[in-house]
Amino acid sequence: MNIQFDETNLLAEMVGKANGVTRAEAGRAQSKAQKALAAFRKRSDAGLYGFPQLPFQSKVIRAILRYAGEVRGSYDTVCVVGIGGSALGAWALDCGVRGPHPVQGAFTPDHPRLVILDNVDPDFTSAALGAMDPRKTMVVVVAKSGGTAETVATFLIVREWLEQAVGAAPGRIAAVTTEGKGDLYELAHAEGYRVFGIPENVGGRFSVLTPVGLLPAALIGIDIVKLCRGAVRMTEACWLPDLERNLALRAALYHWLVWTRKGKPIQVAFPYSNHLWGTAFWFRQLWAESLGKARDAKGETVHTGQTPVAALGTTDQHSQVQLYIEGPNDKVFTFWAVRRFHAAGPIPRGSTGLAAFDALAGQSLAKLIDAERRSTAAAMTECGRPNCTVTLDRVDEEHLGAFLQMMEFETAFMGELLNIDAFDQPGVELAKKLTFGLMGRAGYDQYRAQFSAYEKKREAAR
Ligand code: PA5
Repeated sequence: MNIQFDETNLLAEMVGKANGVTRAEAGRAQSKAQKALAAFRKRSDAGLYGFPQLPFQSKVIRAILRYAGEVRGSYDTVCVVGIGGSALGAWALDCGVRGPHPVQGAFTPDHPRLVILDNVDPDFTSAALGAMDPRKTMVVVVAKSGGTAETVATFLIVREWLEQAVGAAPGRIAAVTTEGKGDLYELAHAEGYRVFGIPENVGGRFSVLTPVGLLPAALIGIDIVKLCRGAVRMTEACWLPDLERNLALRAALYHWLVWTRKGKPIQVAFPYSNHLWGTAFWFRQLWAESLGKARDAKGETVHTGQTPVAALGTTDQHSQVQLYIEGPNDKVFTFWAVRRFHAAGPIPRGSTGLAAFDALAGQSLAKLIDAERRSTAAAMTECGRPNCTVTLDRVDEEHLGAFLQMMEFETAFMGELLNIDAFDQPGVELAKKLTFGLMGRAGYDQYRAQFSAYEKKREAAR
């Protein structure tokens, strides 16, 4: 397993003092990084945050593998019903290891596809149900709280769709939720679904290595042992004080310096690999929900946060890079490079006598995508746009497990550097409650009233 982080293009020597970190600034911040590491270690050891321990949980991994072994061969589709942290990890794993849709080949019981129902767009849901065969579908319903409106509503529809085709089918449904707590757990228990627990001290966006991500992954044939092996190795490195070896801490430190000292409130995650596109969306949630906070640990109003943007190389060179290079200098770019692709993509030899074609004939797509990434990084640097690169030797289970774990650690360290709680999400609660009020849920009348007052205010303002 080989992952590297290169911060050279974040340095002042490369992008100028206004946009890049000087050696003196980096030197002065070393002690901040060590304090962040020690503070997070203390909280993690106290059991407040559980994600660092997840890849070591061999009992959970074995239980998932046993279950996957029991049901293997009886389905060609795994349908995940979940949203946010309860869906994005499964997508990152599927896209990362097996490749992006639609280039995924035929789906069969030996090579099941993953369908994720993570939105309550009725057209999307009915199209997905129309494309799946209920007799060949395994349903995994995921909700840590057990009561998220989107997940609950979609699951009721999927459950009835299954029942109408095959009768009550508890063996076709697995629930991933907080053990012993919440409405989904109650229902699963009452109806006899297989239940896999989510530890209390692991929040949705940090839960990819719990059954939230591991169960769908195992059901579609991803090697979760290798995935966790990569994460174990990264976890060990993430506890080291040595910044050369602790990539997550180094990345957090340099990103923190560029963001807070050089005024870069936007970070563009820029994978040059379609396999990493799902991971970019997973990262967007991790970075946004964890670091976008109104208050710091002392309760003071800070309204901090760095807006994560996902861009795909090379595609978005022809869509976004004009803005990135000439627009407001308010972004830091993190390229995600892959050293070895699964296929080289050889470009056929032979001369057409035309310069644009002959220059590329006989080369490869792997060489071209690499050249394009390095050229874009160089162009950005020359224009004073700070950027850095994470390089994965290849995208397989071990590298992906390690990379996801690295980003979770980086986020946790960033939370310490900013002195905020990276593990809560109070800002999304009000909209959830207002929705429950509008949908008539018992106990939410006050939110229904709050919504009516808001509508009256709007009416008056028109
Ligand atoms: O990271 C988080 O905590 C959230 O994004 C949740 O994952 C999301 O809101 C879904 O919650 P639940 O798993 O309770 O349905």
